[in-house]
Amino acid sequence: MENLSLSQFIIGSIILVAIYVIYQIFDYRSSIKRAEQNTQQVQAEEKSSSPPNPEKLEIASLKLMTLKDVQQHNGLGGKRVFVAIKNFVFDVTNSDAYKPDGPYGVFAGHDISISLGKMNISEEFLDMYGTVTQPEDEIANMNSWFSYFYTKYPVIGRLDDKKQN
Ligand code: HEM
Repeated sequence: MENLSLSQFIIGSIILVAIYVIYQIFDYRSSIKRAEQNTQQVQAEEKSSSPPNPEKLEIASLKLMTLKDVQQHNGLGGKRVFVAIKNFVFDVTNSDAYKPDGPYGVFAGHDISISLGKMNISEEFLDMYGTVTQPEDEIANMNSWFSYFYTKYPVIGRLDDKKQN
């Protein structure tokens, strides 16, 4: 220590400060890179995941249907099986769940928005979307079911207005 001259001490300190500054610059650069990668990943995930709200769907290109049309697709008579959620019509033919003897056969050919919100398979809640005020938690339930169906089944049409029945 005694042999360390003042100039050596200063040079050593400068080197240490320089190393610290260079490290900070590299760290800053790599954190920007990481942030960019994260953003790209989130954007890619957003693109590939289903839109949670119907407004993002290509509404204009969907066939307009009435509730009566949907009700005819109830799994009887060999027709395709439809269910409606939030006025969007899903083709659920490929699932056994909506066959007449399936666990959710009661849903086949119906608007099931309110039923899903309430998690209730009772017939009294079928075909009621737009006619009742739903509590917030039921709306949230219904919306997450919508996303589930959107991911799993094709949307083949939309209900224009329940008054058309
Ligand atoms: C004891 C109660 C319940 C049990 C054990 C149960 C069980 C299940 C199981 C195992 C599935 C997956 C079926 C599959 O992948 O094919 C399912 C799907 C489903 N459950 Fe339930 N569930 C129950 C109650 C309910 C209730 C009350 C509702 C009312 C809304 C409901 C609505 C649904 C729906 C909509 C599906 C999706 C079917 C599909 O993939 O299209 N469940 N349930």
